Amino acid sequence: MRAREISNDRSICLSRRSPGPFRDQERTEYFASGREALRSLIDSVLPTGKMTVLLPDYVPEGVIRPFRTAAWEVLLYPIDENLDPLWQRLEALLKARKPAIAVLIHYFGLAKDAGRFRALCNASGALMIEDLAHVLPGEGCEAGREGDYVLYSPTKTIGSPDGGILVRRHGAGMAFPKRKGSRAHTTYVVQQLLLLCVATLGRRFTAGRWLRLLRRLSGRFLNSYETLSSYSHEPHQMSDIGRFLLRHADWDGWARRRLDHASAYDRGLDGKIFKRVPGSFFPNGGPFGFPVMVDDRDDLQEHLAARGIRGLTLDGRWDFIPQEERQEHPGALAVLRKHFLFPTDQHLADGQIQTVIAAANDWAALRNRSQIAAPVAAVA
Ligand SMILES: Cc1ncc(COP(=O)(O)O)c(C=O)c1O
Repeated sequence: MRAREISNDRSICLSRRSPGPFRDQERTEYFASGREALRSLIDSVLPTGKMTVLLPDYVPEGVIRPFRTAAWEVLLYPIDENLDPLWQRLEALLKARKPAIAVLIHYFGLAKDAGRFRALCNASGALMIEDLAHVLPGEGCEAGREGDYVLYSPTKTIGSPDGGILVRRHGAGMAFPKRKGSRAHTTYVVQQLLLLCVATLGRRFTAGRWLRLLRRLSGRFLNSYETLSSYSHEPHQMSDIGRFLLRHADWDGWARRRLDHASAYDRGLDGKIFKRVPGSFFPNGGPFGFPVMVDDRDDLQEHLAARGIRGLTLDGRWDFIPQEERQEHPGALAVLRKHFLFPTDQHLADGQIQTVIAAANDWAALRNRSQIAAPVAAVA
């Protein structure tokens, strides 16, 4: 019998009204997306003229594009396979190139050393953005204490059609340009809502041909990413429906559920085949997914897909390393090739996480066997 799909897809869920994590309204700006928040920051706060930004070499389009469209010079600092900055290279770039701003990404919800990053930025006079797009902050979550600006992207963790939240430490009362609405933004919100409805149906009902058909149609007609790209150079404020859904999210409970899922993977997955990324998640910060590094990732994904399980890889719009510089970025290239995110999501039951672990370990057992068999065959 077919079961329900297991995936990271966000779906709509209404919880009791809660104050949520962004209570200091004075310092919180709500945009329609993370990239619009960055664009508004660039336009409002930072001095005009030829400016430089320092970004990690494993970076999403949503972070690099606002700087590029504002005609900033973009420098990439290298990370290693553990998703940490190569600290000496970072320091050297900060000193030599004096960027106006540097960005630290807490990839997949893993807590990176923001204090160390802050100290290096202070020493060179750069502003620091802490990117927490992959974190669902629960009550008392300590993430984002170091950055001058802290970025959240709730569409990645909460079933909201739009949203990019910028928390600022300085410049209280400063105006951040944003439009109230436009046809393109409305189209984006409607497309995103329809996609959320498809995902919500997929969670509630047993998967089957109807879902595949609905997905195919929505893939064809609901290209919300293209819509977002068409207008995001002009920042918009978050929609009312998005704000409503944020107010009715169970931030604390969902953060805990995601962390519980991550712990279950940590305990249950075969450690030989699925390499953990060292470090930990933020206490009470729900992770976007549970990251591992794995060889032959496509084969794993096929194996899981045949069992109704979808994980995630963030590689499609994450590679902006120029061709001629690629040998200087082995860490990011390895991450692009090998990372895989097991689904953590507030809507998934513990039993479903165990199903994923069992399916992944079945695949790992096959790999272990073939690795043992390979040298024997070579000798024969
Ligand atoms: C780490 C990270 N930061 C920022 C962004 C940009 O957010 P948005 O998609 O809301 O523009 C993304 C999007 O992929 C992201 O993954």
